[in-house]
Amino acid sequence: MPAQRWTPESWRQKPIQQAPFYPDAAALADVERTLAGFPPLVFAGEARKLKKALAKVAAGEAFLLQGGDCAESFAEHSADNIRDFFRVFLQMAVVLTFGAASPVVKVGRVAGQFAKPRTNPTETINGVELPIYRGDIVNDTDFSLKGRTPDPTRQLDAYRQSAATLNLLRAFAWGGYANLDNAHRWMLGFVKDSPQAGKYQELADRITQTLAFMRAIGLDPEEHQELSRTDFYTSHEALLLGFEQAMTRVDSTSGDHYATSGHMLWIGDRTRQFDHAHVEYCRGVKNPVGLKCGPTLKPDDLLRLIDMLNPANEPGRMTLITRFGSQKVGEHLPALIRAVQREGRIVVWSCDPMHGNTISANSYKTRPFERIMDEIRNFFLVHQAEGTYAGGVHLEMTGKNVTECTGGARAISEGELSDRYHTHCDPRLNAEQAIEVAFLVAELLKEERARVKKPAAAAE
Ligand code: PEP
Ligand code: CO
Repeated sequence: MPAQRWTPESWRQKPIQQAPFYPDAAALADVERTLAGFPPLVFAGEARKLKKALAKVAAGEAFLLQGGDCAESFAEHSADNIRDFFRVFLQMAVVLTFGAASPVVKVGRVAGQFAKPRTNPTETINGVELPIYRGDIVNDTDFSLKGRTPDPTRQLDAYRQSAATLNLLRAFAWGGYANLDNAHRWMLGFVKDSPQAGKYQELADRITQTLAFMRAIGLDPEEHQELSRTDFYTSHEALLLGFEQAMTRVDSTSGDHYATSGHMLWIGDRTRQFDHAHVEYCRGVKNPVGLKCGPTLKPDDLLRLIDMLNPANEPGRMTLITRFGSQKVGEHLPALIRAVQREGRIVVWSCDPMHGNTISANSYKTRPFERIMDEIRNFFLVHQAEGTYAGGVHLEMTGKNVTECTGGARAISEGELSDRYHTHCDPRLNAEQAIEVAFLVAELLKEERARVKKPAAAAE
């Protein structure tokens, strides 16, 4: 059966999950009209460039590092926060690039990651029932009727915050701040302060030597664009479809539709029904698209979703972001991999070790560092056993020194969670924990690349 014609609004004819109820429909329509007239946040050409980079990941020639806040918030919008996140992210990329001798595709969960899917539509406190908080783009955390009623004008604030965030990130990425010497120096600072400095020293020394060598032969990071600039992309969950539709534009060079709210969009684990609205919207835009794959996803349903979202089997279009929980990877991942391999589908396999490993401790939602690492290790092991390529990680992290996930080199205890628990939604890795993950992933990736690298001698 041929798929029905797609338009930026064809999702409105489909059943939808996780949609907020806006009591003032006229005000919502007004905001969506306004957004439709605003400049795009990203360009189609950039999304195409990211797709090419992801095609390399699918082919086993690069690694995807995706990460950022669970939910961005209006209250925490500051240059410091953006800078700290970017610094940590760059250090992770440097560790992975050197540690595993692999190009790293850098994609932030940032500049648009505002809307959150929730388990329950409402929340009841002391007998009062109000709409659940769905992210700052929809309503407020404040438990009052005013705070919790979805307010469309928040979409304009989210747009402006995304534009300002992206502007600073572009300046960092292209203006010299992201040069290799800086990232290296920050990383050395991390290693020096880490309780496990010894473990990281060898890699740090290797990077120092390589940079000294490069300088000795005349490659100065300040003068060479490749060393002073970096490609950095944005991504978020395509959840609030009215907003996404308003930000959809036709690319004048190709005539194709692109989501211009971010370079890459993903479909969440709760909204991936193949005949529902979120899949319908995403199938028509040409950006790279991610799909969260949780324990309830059956191999046949996955194939059906891939058929809808990437009928031409275009490399770089589909990233499968698996999130099972550390103990469930072995049970669920092999069947999905085999189905995809059997049908010859080209995908990037990425591991989200966060969303299947959330537990409750001292009435805080947390994620033990060891479980996060276990899920990543199991993800690499399964790919090794199946002969496929573990292509990326998808993390919730911040550049700040928060105490939201337990464990790590500093062994944050459950009792310490209350010290600096700042997240608006899920618990994030703090700066040190995030860089630690990068060191550990670099080791796994190094082994993997040794396995997938074709023996050079064989070609002669
Ligand atoms: C998320 O990435 O913040 C999220 C809600 O993930 P998932 O859809 O996998 O639960
Ligand atoms: Co989350």
